[in-house]
Order: sequence, then C-alpha cells, then structure tokens
Amino acid sequence: VDLHLDRAGSRVRATLEDQLREAVRSGRLRPGWRLPSSRSLAAELGVARNTVVEVYGQLTAEGWLVARQGSVTRVAGQVPAAPAGPALPGPGQPLRYDLRPGAPDAAAFPRSRWLAAARRALTAAPAEALADTSPLGRPELHQALTGYLARARGVRVSPDRIVICSGFTQGFGLLCQALAARGARTLAVERYGLPGLDETATAHGLRTVALPADGSGAVTARLGAADAAVLTPAHQFPLGTVLAPGRRTEAIAWASRRNAVLIEDDYDGEYRYDRQPVGAMQALAPDLVVYAGTASKSLIPGLRLGWLVLPAQLVAEVGAAKAQADRQSSTLDQLTLAEFIASGGYDRQVRRTRLAYRRRRDQLTEAVARRVPAVRVTGVAAGLHALLELPPGLDEDEVIARAARRDLALEGLRGYRVGRPAAGHPDAPALVIGYARPPEHAFGLALDRLIEVLTDALRG
Ligand SMILES: Cc1ncc(COP(=O)(O)O)c(C=O)c1O
Repeated sequence: VDLHLDRAGSRVRATLEDQLREAVRSGRLRPGWRLPSSRSLAAELGVARNTVVEVYGQLTAEGWLVARQGSVTRVAGQVPAAPAGPALPGPGQPLRYDLRPGAPDAAAFPRSRWLAAARRALTAAPAEALADTSPLGRPELHQALTGYLARARGVRVSPDRIVICSGFTQGFGLLCQALAARGARTLAVERYGLPGLDETATAHGLRTVALPADGSGAVTARLGAADAAVLTPAHQFPLGTVLAPGRRTEAIAWASRRNAVLIEDDYDGEYRYDRQPVGAMQALAPDLVVYAGTASKSLIPGLRLGWLVLPAQLVAEVGAAKAQADRQSSTLDQLTLAEFIASGGYDRQVRRTRLAYRRRRDQLTEAVARRVPAVRVTGVAAGLHALLELPPGLDEDEVIARAARRDLALEGLRGYRVGRPAAGHPDAPALVIGYARPPEHAFGLALDRLIEVLTDALRG
C-alpha cells in the first residue's frame, strides 16, 4: 500500500494518527488492506519505530485498524462512524489544505535571520532615522534595492528613483492617482489578472480596457489608444506565460509613440526554474516603464513592503500620493529589509525557496502527467503557480466544490477574468494552482488530494 504519509513537523505521532484516520475515512485505505510493518513505515518516514507502534496501537484501540498478536496490521472491516457535527468546514472557515495562488510558503519565512537583521538594523540606526517621515522611504533601503534589483533583475535603477510602498497593491493605487492627475484616462489591463486592479483604477477615475493574451503573453498590438498599461511580463498572472521579446519591444514602441506609461508588475520575477531569469522589461526603457516589485512572494505578504522604480518625472507625484495615503511605510521594517538584503539574507532566502518551489513544481507536473494525463499543466517555467487546463466538459466550479468536500481549497481561472468573456470565446475551464502556499509537510498531502479530486471528477 502506497500510503503517502508525511511526518509533519514536531507533532509526528498526532499527525500520523490523523492522516491514517483520514485515509480510512475517505476510502483511500480500504477495509481489510494490509498496512506496512511498523519497522518499514518507521524507516520510510524517518521516525522512531516505537512511534509507529504507538500510532497503530492507538488506532487499533479506536477501531480503525485490527491487529492480531504477532500478525500483520490491517484496516478494520467496519470503521467507526464519523463524529457527529458538520462534515464540512462551515462558511468562512479555512480548509485544511490550500492550493490557491497568491501566497508563498509562510512557514519558510526565515524568522531567526529576520529577527537578527532587525536587531542589527535597530542597533545601528541613528535617532534621526527613527524620526524620519520621508514618504519616499529610507535611503538604506533605496541603496540596498538599487544593488539587488540591478544584479538580480537587470533593472536600471538609482536610489533617487525608488518609492517604498505597502506592497504592489498600494503602489498600483499611487500610480493610478498620479497618472490620472497628469491627464491619463484609460488604462490597459491584461484580460486575466490580479483581482481588484480594475476597481482600483476606476476608483481613481481611469477607465480600463482588457488586453487579450495568447501563448506569447499579452497581445501588445491591441494596446491601442490607452494612456497607460499594467503588464506581468516575467510570468503572466495567472496564465503563466512569459511576455515574448517581440511583444516587449512592441509595448515599448507603443509607449514611446503615445507618451504612455507601462507598469511592470514583477511580483515573482526571481522565481524562474529552467533557465536564467528573464530580465526586467524596464531595462529597455527606464523613462517609460515603472518597475514594481514586492516582498510578498519572496518573503511574506504580511510584511507589506513593495517598491516602485520610477521614471524621473513621476517620482515627486508618486511620493506626494504616498504621503497623502499613509505618510510612509514603517521605518523599522524598511531598515530591517535593507539590512537583510545587504547581509545576503534575502538572496539566500530566494535561493532556498526557489529550490523548494521548483521541487514542488516538478512533483505537480509529474503527478498530473502520470495520474491524470487528460489535464494539461502550463505556465510552469516560473513563479509560484501553474495553470491546470481541464478537459472540455469539466466544470471549474464543480471541481472546486468537490475539492472543498475533501478539505482542499482551489481556485478557478474564471475568477481572474476582467470583464465579460470575449464574444464567441467562452472561458476554457482551468484551475490556478498555487503550489508554493502549503507548508512543506502538507504539500504532498494537498497534491494527493488534488489528484484524487481530478480523478474522481474525470470519472464523473
Ligand atoms: C499579479 C500579482 N501582483 C502583485 C502581487 C503582490 O501584491 P502585494 O505586493 O500587494 O502583496 C500579487 C500577489 O498575489 C500578484 O498575484
């Protein structure tokens, strides 16, 4: 029996018990099936044999397993009834396994290194720094980002072009405000994209137009008469394509012709797996492109730190919008991030998580290809998410509901569409899988459930 168990952090015994109960309850382990010997399961999981003996003993006492003296352990013929109460988590209650996109593995946040950087930064900071209220952000962070972004993303940057903001979300709002104040009226957004862009732009008086996308990324020939555009060139969100070189130059030529501004949302640009990272588009035209980066994927979204590298003529206006919005981002967090980058902690974290996420991506693509080959995985060259294209006839919502019944949170592509589907082009059903989000110990279990859900859905 291939059990697919995880040893799961410090509560090994309790976790193993839970996983085995769940496997029997869900039918993954059938009545009468023989379990591995305690010796071989212990060796496979790298835990003490006694732990497995105790787990088997406990589950035998509860009636899930049966064991005869000196004989093998089997799944009981009749398993205990499910405890009374709702079988499904109630509305708003989080599901146990989560493969929705939009977040990294928060358990991989380097707490002790971050704390050490915070201590060093605060110890070294002059009082002047702690009283500083510059809306553009701290010079230490401008300096550290200048070196990092030039080196890691090929951005053409100097410290005086950077504004620190509360993640991309705030940065985008500040840009909309500044662009609208300069007379911009229309913003092109990708037809599939980060939810909320449309609303933010509209709130600042900009009308949005949706750009179609194909296998080469956003169709830049359709930028048309817009005054600005926001794109995800390194890894289209959520389709996962990379903006082709010809499209990049086409977008720049468009911006130059129309004196328009391009916003490059480089939310996961550090995560490229099979080749060298694709450099930032901003390097082609630093006076037309705003480069926007964030610590939400490389560290955690809760940090709320992002950065805009701006054309010179936009710095003062965006800085003024930041001052009006919330005066400045937290000085202590900025100083800590500056120290974290300068001391090499940031690069190390990106390298470490890149390896882990690449492994997960490989597991996902391999498991889908082997066990549910009717589902196509795309958009996997980079980033923290992949697109699973479902065969025609499968309904996204129905698959998501099936998954929820198995305690697995999923999201469909449809929720990322801006506006209505193009006439004659209904959405093809697809899931956007965020494989970085679960903690390391839960990823294998979440993936197993995903495959089970897809297998069941395909069976009908
Ligand atoms: C396309 C895209 N851009 C940007 C972000 C990051 O937003 P923020 O920096 O506000 O956390 C995300 C996070 O999910 C995203 O998916």
